This record gives sequence, structure tokens and C-alpha cells, in this order.
Amino acid sequence: MGLTRVPGLLFGGDYNPEQWPEEVWQEDVRLMAEAGVNLVTVAVFSWSRIEPGPGAYEFGWLDRVLDLLHAHGIAVDLATATATPPPWLVRAHPEVRPVDAAGTRLEFGSRQGYCPSSPVFRAATVRLARAMAERYREHPALAMWHVSNEYADHTTECFCEESARDFRRWLTVRHRSLDGLNAAWGTSCWGQHYTDWAQVEPPRKAPGPVNPAQLLDWRRFSSDALLACFEAERAVLKEVTPDVPVTTNFMSVLRDLDYWAWAEGEDVVTDDAYPDPADPRAPVKAALSYDLMRSLKRQPWLLLESAPSAVSWRAVNVPKDPGVMRLHSLQALAHGSDGVMFFQWRQARYGPEKFHSAMLPHGGTGTRQWRETLALGADVRRLSEVAGSTTRAEVALLLDWDSWWGLEAPESMPTDRLRLHELLLSWYAPLHARGVAVDLAPPGRDLSGYRLVIAPNLYLCTAAHADALAAFPGQLVVGPFSGVVDAADQVHDGGAPGPLGELLGVRVEEWRPLPDGVAQEVVTADGTVLSARTWTEWLDASGAAEVLARYRGGPLDGRPAVTRRGSATYLSCLPEDPAPFLDELLATAGITGVTGPGLPAGVEACRRGPYLFLLNHGTEPATVPLPEGDRFTDLLTGRPLPAGAVTVGPCDAVVLKPRPTPEERA
Ligand code: GLA
Repeated sequence: MGLTRVPGLLFGGDYNPEQWPEEVWQEDVRLMAEAGVNLVTVAVFSWSRIEPGPGAYEFGWLDRVLDLLHAHGIAVDLATATATPPPWLVRAHPEVRPVDAAGTRLEFGSRQGYCPSSPVFRAATVRLARAMAERYREHPALAMWHVSNEYADHTTECFCEESARDFRRWLTVRHRSLDGLNAAWGTSCWGQHYTDWAQVEPPRKAPGPVNPAQLLDWRRFSSDALLACFEAERAVLKEVTPDVPVTTNFMSVLRDLDYWAWAEGEDVVTDDAYPDPADPRAPVKAALSYDLMRSLKRQPWLLLESAPSAVSWRAVNVPKDPGVMRLHSLQALAHGSDGVMFFQWRQARYGPEKFHSAMLPHGGTGTRQWRETLALGADVRRLSEVAGSTTRAEVALLLDWDSWWGLEAPESMPTDRLRLHELLLSWYAPLHARGVAVDLAPPGRDLSGYRLVIAPNLYLCTAAHADALAAFPGQLVVGPFSGVVDAADQVHDGGAPGPLGELLGVRVEEWRPLPDGVAQEVVTADGTVLSARTWTEWLDASGAAEVLARYRGGPLDGRPAVTRRGSATYLSCLPEDPAPFLDELLATAGITGVTGPGLPAGVEACRRGPYLFLLNHGTEPATVPLPEGDRFTDLLTGRPLPAGAVTVGPCDAVVLKPRPTPEERA
């Protein structure tokens, strides 16, 4: 059994039958069966059609949809339908609508417009979730609950009075007293000392930079406020249908929500991923987000939404060329997804997403899109046995949301060019290019299963984080501007790297961010010259650290740039290419890519259980050496492959399954 009650890999998409006359539904289920669809997500935005008036439910149409799907062997990821509050609710209770940082209450007429802290909104969602759970608890099509939709999409935060009250309640739990809050927020700066809780407000639009500690707490609170919405619905679903898995769809590498905390309440981690076909870095960015999803609960996850071709929400919505939908879908499977799902099944005829691609396009079944949908369904069936298999990574990249929020505080940092997603990619991309499996991990997690741990940036670093890193026995790399502040965004005594000082054996005297377009030379001990951009530091390594590379030229000439103490390496700069350090670290840690050295450029290699996925994102055929002695069958074609090497066509993939040896067969 897979992630849900459906065996094997999942294949399907969002299905919005309420946008179509019922006779179309018959065609839908017939074509779904033809394509091998076994799961669809239903009712995501259906609140106003299920409950058109307070407590007045109209389930009839949804009953018929679920019955019809079930009759055709299609299971349902059933939404609680709470993503868009209906007109009657927002008109009766205007305070349900969110308020932006400038104080404007946002109008109805789009979607997902709600104040996360509104008791009226929360109570209404819980009522509807209960009604849905009680109605469909025994329905044989029900495979999974889909709570709300993409929390933090459209509404990330709300600045209304109710949110302000909720924020104050949250702050009293965190800081206990007003004295505690004043100390943590450093309100002696700029005359912000509070003498009454009622004076404390969300960080609304102000004349100048907002207190960054206040902003950090606000981001924590906003993630928690949405999480409370999810948890309230989840609790009802678990009470009524304890055995049905619950999910809410995540949005890849998203800054706004602390997904480590969120994943705890998910039975199945699901993700919506929309790599831009026009972005040459799309495959590597997608791979990073998929590895994050797999790492959240360290188990297979599900790609719940992706675009069959173009989206409709970018400035320019480039379609996927022939074969790209398939390749990108196989990529998600390679990184641990137990299925491939799309937004959406049938292309809409109206609304803001009428030009968004779908599995079944406006042009119907005589189209390239439909042919590719059918072919992909067949591929997914061929790979069915991959479901449930897991990935073992020896490298972990550290990601901490508190630190991310602190690092990207506006208008108060040495530079606004340090963006965590880019810093993660700067290490992830070369690992990915070498076919090295990577997990993401929070700094407090037990890291003992890894051989190499990389913290691209740990701006906010507590003593507990530092202790966890000091206890890690393998190779550790810490990137620049780390160990700067504590949990309250206050600079550590003595400056950076604060609690990491002992471990790294260095002290930072001065930040030296580089203007755009300016490069700083860095020379390694063996004379390799590298170019660093964006950031450098005036470092004192006169303690116990060995110097691996020095700056050359300019005011930093001759000063340490990269250091090592024991097995802890510190980079005080951002080399354009960290390869010299990375290759040496991988060698020291005894880590190789899954196919060994020599993975051609543009080819992605991932091992999942016994299966080896090779995906060629390039435009030329690529020959990949195979692990010596092993013999494989390509699961996609069923053909045995010659030993030694395999050639993968452009925009194509092979999924290798080890063939038993003659002895094993006997
Ligand atoms: C998100 C939403 C979907 C749809 C798609 C379009 O993933 O969850 O409802 O709007 O984007 O890309």
C-alpha cells in the first residue's frame, strides 16, 4: 500500500467538476480511466457550492462526483473546501477578510482571502471540515484529506485588529512579560520601550525600517497562525476519520512557513511545484525542493500539483516542449515522490486560470498534450514498483526558517544580496551535478547519519545549534555570515561566529559585502585562484584554525578566506564555484555520486531504493558509466541494458533496476 489507500504510484490532478455540466463528467471519468488516472483532488475551492448559505449544505453534486469516480476506479484526495470563504460569510463578517501592512482590508473576488486569526473564519472552517468528514467518512473513494490549499499563498499574514490581539497572545507565551518583550526586541533602540501590551502592534507599514526583532517574531507568529488553522481542521478530521491520511499542499522552498514545524501535522507531505520551463536552472531548483519534501518527514512524499505545460501566473508563461512534462515528472519520482499529479485535469474555460495548461486541454484528445498525458500515465504504471522506496543521503544541507527570516530582514543588513535560497543552491547545484544525494535538515536534528553537513548560512545560531554541530563527527562546512545573532536577533557577545567560534577557531572582525559586479580573488593553498562575489569578511584565524585559502588583492590581501579546525571548515566568502573545497570534502568524507565519477553535464542521477534514475536535461545524447559489475533492466522499456554504460537521449530518462545475477536467479 502506498502513501494513501491507493496501491502503487499515484497519477492524476485537480478536478473541478463544478465548473462543468454533468454530462462532461461522464467524458471526464472515461478519459481518466484511459489515461490511467487513479487519484484526483476534488473540491479545493468548492465552499460556496457545498455550503451556499450558513449551515445549508448541498452535497448532492459532490456525492454524484465521488460515486462516479469510484465507479471508474478513481480515488479521491478530498479537499475540506475551506480555501476560499464564501460570499455570505465575508459579507456577514467583513472582518474575515485580511488587512495588508498598509491597513487596507482586501476585497472579495479572488481566492484564499481570509484572516488566519479570525475566530469566525476558523470556526466556519472547522464546521465545514466536520460536515465533510461526517458526510464522506465511509465513502469508498476517499483516499486522503486535503486541508485548505497552499497556506500562505495570497494570504501570508494579516495586519487587522484581531491579528494584533492574537499576536499579543502569542508574544505573551514567548516572552512572558512586557519586560521580557522589551529586552528581546531591544526597544531601547529608537525609543520603542513599551509600557502596556496594548501598545504592541504588528509591524505595519511605518515611516522607516521596522524593528527587525519585532519582524522576526511576526514571521514566526504568522507561520504559527496559519498552522493553527490547519491544525484545527486536522483535529476534526482525525476525530471523525482517524485512518484517513491528512495533508495540506506545500509550496516547494517557501520562505513564509516553517515547514519543519508544519510537516509534523502532515501524514503525507505533498508539494506543488512549478519549475519555469524558461529557466535553465529549473531542474536543479526543482531537485532542491523535492529533496526538501523528502527530508521533511524522511519518507516518500507526493507531487500533488505541477503544470502539464504553461502556467498562467507568470509575466510570460512559456509552455513545456515535447517530452519536458514527462522528464520533469520522472524527476519528482526520482527524488522520492510516490506519484505525479497536476493542476489540473481539464483546462478551464473561464476564470484567471483559463490559459493554465491541463492534462486534457481546450483542444481535447486530438492534441499533443493529450497524447503526452496518455504516454505519461503509461510510464507511471510501468514504474509502479518504485512506490515506497527510499533514498539514503550522506550529505545534509542545513535549513532553519528562523535564520532565513532573520537574514532577509529588510533595510537593516550589511547587504540585501544574501538570499538563503540562492545560498542553498550554491552548494546544492554542484552536489546535484555530481550525482550526490542530499537531504535537507534543521540544525537541531540528529545529524549522525551523515558524513558531510553543510550550513550555507546560519545567521541566527543558538547555543543549542552550535552544540548539535559540535557533536557531529563528520565533515562540517559553515558558510559566511553565520553565528551572528541569537534567537532574538541580537548580536552575540564578541561578534561572529558567536557560539560557533570555538568549533571553527576563527573570529570575524568586519563584514565586507561587495558591490554588484565586483569580484574578490581568493587563492587556495595549492595556488588555485577563485573568484568570490557578494560577500567577504575580515577574519582573524590566529587561533587554532588552519588557513586553506587567502584573499588576494585589495584591503583583504593575504588575509584568511577559508579556514579549517579539525573537521570544521569555514568559508568567509562566496566563491563562484566551491568545487575545489567540495571535491576535497567529498573525497575526505568518502562520498561519491550514485554512478561514481564522470556524470555528464546536464544528466541527473538519483538512487531510490534499488532503482537508479538517469535523467538527461540536456539537448545531446549522454553516455553514463554504470557501476561496475552491475547489470540492469530499464523499467521504462522493460529492456535489459548492456553492462558498463548506458546512453540516455536528450530530454529522456532511463530507470534502471538491478538484474539478479545467474546465481541469484538459481
Ligand atoms: C497553485 C494552486 C492551484 C492553481 C495552481 C496554478 O498550485 O494550488 O489551485 O492555482 O497554482 O499553477
